[in-house]
Amino acid sequence: MDLKTVLYWKDDGIATVQINRPEVLNAINEDVLIDLSLVLDDVASDPQVKVLVVQGDGNAFAAGADIKNFVSYGPQDAHNYIYQVQVTMNKIMALGKPTLASIAGYALGGGCEMALACDIRIAADNAFFGLPEINLGIVPGGSGTQRLTRMVGEGKAKELIFLGEVFNAQQAFQLGLVNFLVSAEELKEQTLKIAKKLSKKPPLAIRTAKELIHLSYDVDIYTGLMMEKEKFAFLFSSDDQKEGMTAFLEGRKAVFKGK
Ligand code: COA
Repeated sequence: MDLKTVLYWKDDGIATVQINRPEVLNAINEDVLIDLSLVLDDVASDPQVKVLVVQGDGNAFAAGADIKNFVSYGPQDAHNYIYQVQVTMNKIMALGKPTLASIAGYALGGGCEMALACDIRIAADNAFFGLPEINLGIVPGGSGTQRLTRMVGEGKAKELIFLGEVFNAQQAFQLGLVNFLVSAEELKEQTLKIAKKLSKKPPLAIRTAKELIHLSYDVDIYTGLMMEKEKFAFLFSSDDQKEGMTAFLEGRKAVFKGK
């Protein structure tokens, strides 16, 4: 895989992708989107990979779209760019494996949206979040108006998007935007700890839970419960269900195979 703007490695069931444009605080451009897409395809198709960690470096998760590119854009360029952003965000969201955003420093604009597209967010106490697009005369376009609203509710989403102010990790945690808040020194270790826990869970059940949770946004409660019931029953056809319950009864740790 010829990756220009991200680092990517796999270790013991955990894949990690790190945006690597430190000179612009990991601002997202077309190359980053192409690289992320390649990585996501690899993660999706490698059965050894059980969980994906998305991270930046110590200074920035990602400071948003690369504004230098935007200056010369017309509507069609903007449409093409944001289409690619949304495809990538949707690909992160639809990945049938858990995704963990590990955030230090700035997670602004598209960086914040990328964190929102992940399943779980762990932030260092030096992290800053925000959707400051309004200050550039535009709106969040990489799913921010949709995903932030779903996560924090309409009133708070309007406040954060209209004012476009940067807020810190503690505030993000209080908003429920961040699942785990840790010190900057502990971020790597705690990320690995959660990723390891996730990597030991039954992959089929995790994927099913993820699909059902996403479905809950789009269908009425009766349809959602119907799907839940069917999926619940379906999992009783898996080896992992037998292993999970047998291991419980035998008083040992289950070892899941994703079948
Ligand atoms: N796009 C392009 N370049 C960016 C960038 C972005 N989104 N964010 C930061 N950079 C670049 C800066 O231009 C600067 O480059 P330079 O050294 O060539 O001048 C470098 O990254 C460091 O950023 P700087 O602004 O000097 O750091 P800072 O610590 O003073 O401020 C931020 C950090 C994140 C507050 C500030 O860079 C910022 O507001 N960035 C834009 C955030 C944004 O609006 N994102 C949404 C875009 S839609």
